[in-house]
Amino acid sequence: MKHNLCCDSTIAVVGLGYVGAPLALALAEYFTIIGFDTNPKRIQELQDGFDTHTQESFVPPKSLRYTNVCEDLADATIFIIAVPTPIFADKTPDLSHLHKASQIVGSVLKKDNIVVYESTTYPFCTRKYCAKILQKASGLVLDKDFFVGYSPERINPGDSLHTLRTITKIIAASTPQARERMQAVYEKVVDSLYLAPSIEVAEMAKLIENAQRDLNIAFVNEVAMMCDRLGLSASEVLQAAKSKWNFLPFSPGLVGGHCISVDPYYLSYILEMCAYKPKVLSMGRLVNEQMPAFLAHKVYTLALDSGLVAHKSRVLLLGLSFKENCRDMRNSKIPILRKKLKKRGFRVKVYDPLIDRKEAKQMFGFNPLKSLKNKKFDIIVLLNAHKEFLNLNLREYVNPVHIVFDMKNALSYATHRL
Ligand SMILES: NC(=O)c1ccc[n+]([C@@H]2O[C@H](COP(=O)([O-])OP(=O)(O)OC[C@H]3O[C@@H](n4cnc5c(N)ncnc54)[C@H](O)[C@@H]3O)[C@@H](O)[C@H]2O)c1
Repeated sequence: MKHNLCCDSTIAVVGLGYVGAPLALALAEYFTIIGFDTNPKRIQELQDGFDTHTQESFVPPKSLRYTNVCEDLADATIFIIAVPTPIFADKTPDLSHLHKASQIVGSVLKKDNIVVYESTTYPFCTRKYCAKILQKASGLVLDKDFFVGYSPERINPGDSLHTLRTITKIIAASTPQARERMQAVYEKVVDSLYLAPSIEVAEMAKLIENAQRDLNIAFVNEVAMMCDRLGLSASEVLQAAKSKWNFLPFSPGLVGGHCISVDPYYLSYILEMCAYKPKVLSMGRLVNEQMPAFLAHKVYTLALDSGLVAHKSRVLLLGLSFKENCRDMRNSKIPILRKKLKKRGFRVKVYDPLIDRKEAKQMFGFNPLKSLKNKKFDIIVLLNAHKEFLNLNLREYVNPVHIVFDMKNALSYATHRL
């Protein structure tokens, strides 16, 4: 049966963060949108036409109503859920946001509605975990009364080339008809769709995309560790290797954020439930988790070699967000590096012009520097190649005996690299 699009003219986007807010805006060009978030502060700023995540002002379209009132969701026929999926301290999935969002949507769910999950989850989570909550809260039956879909998000905040419109989007649903209805919605805002044969294929594809990246970075991180032990420059070795046509050009670095450093744990979790312990995946995580300790040791030995004494040395870490040109600090590994350097006696400051300093204090318990004005350091470590840092002349901020350790291979005047 072909569904007429007009029956899906009202769509609710549940969770208006990095993923949900731009999606709601894009869809509002074609549909009536209810933008729902449980955080009243977030609703207020979006109603006021300012997104703190992108730092951009916009005019909220008339077709988009922002709300934190659950009952306001009742008019929607399609619900798109984009709430966080973090991990607990023991690295197991924290599904509390998915649980709550599913309960809220379940409480307003009606016959023939579709609930699409965009949050990253492990295979079978949508069908066996989320759909069950929807059934319980609504009293409706999956694939008889309502349907579920899955469309993993691939956006890359701070990347102007790969956008919601230009990134191929995977869609999958619990029935072919539900997928057709999803297709009619998503093809309005995305140039290219990939129709996955099942929800579980789409869930797994999302996880392995990010796991592959984690592993590729883990390999070059271990290359950095091996080169260090051999007394070789990893930058020179990687540069030489890149001259081969099929060498993958990954660079060493701290792997933080809410995706790459989290998703492999979702995959491990479900596999361990199936009595299988992933080997390659776990080793990649192990290496990447060791990177802050490796860097702290590296800075310490560089300082010793340069005649600098740790407890007399002022260190500046440049960057606090989890990656370049982005203000998101979730799971940033830089606070761990800071702690390890402080343990070795260094006096450490962190500077990142992109982040919200108040939020940083709340998240990590220390105050990042407000500016570099009139400051001098013995050691500067470039951790994020933010455009703002590349436009600075860091030599203005160093003492005569100094180290400029460039983790990102981005500064021509660096004294040291990996
Ligand atoms: N940010 C990215 O670049 C990115 C990329 C790909 C995939 N993802 C995945 O997309 C999902 C969302 O990520 P994000 O970065 O947008 O998260 P986010 O933290 O930026 O935003 C989530 C929003 O959901 C809201 N929220 C939490 N619980 C809610 C509930 N029960 N009901 C309604 N709103 C609720 C929060 O207040 C917040 O505003 C995650 O699973 C993430 O892994 C994110």
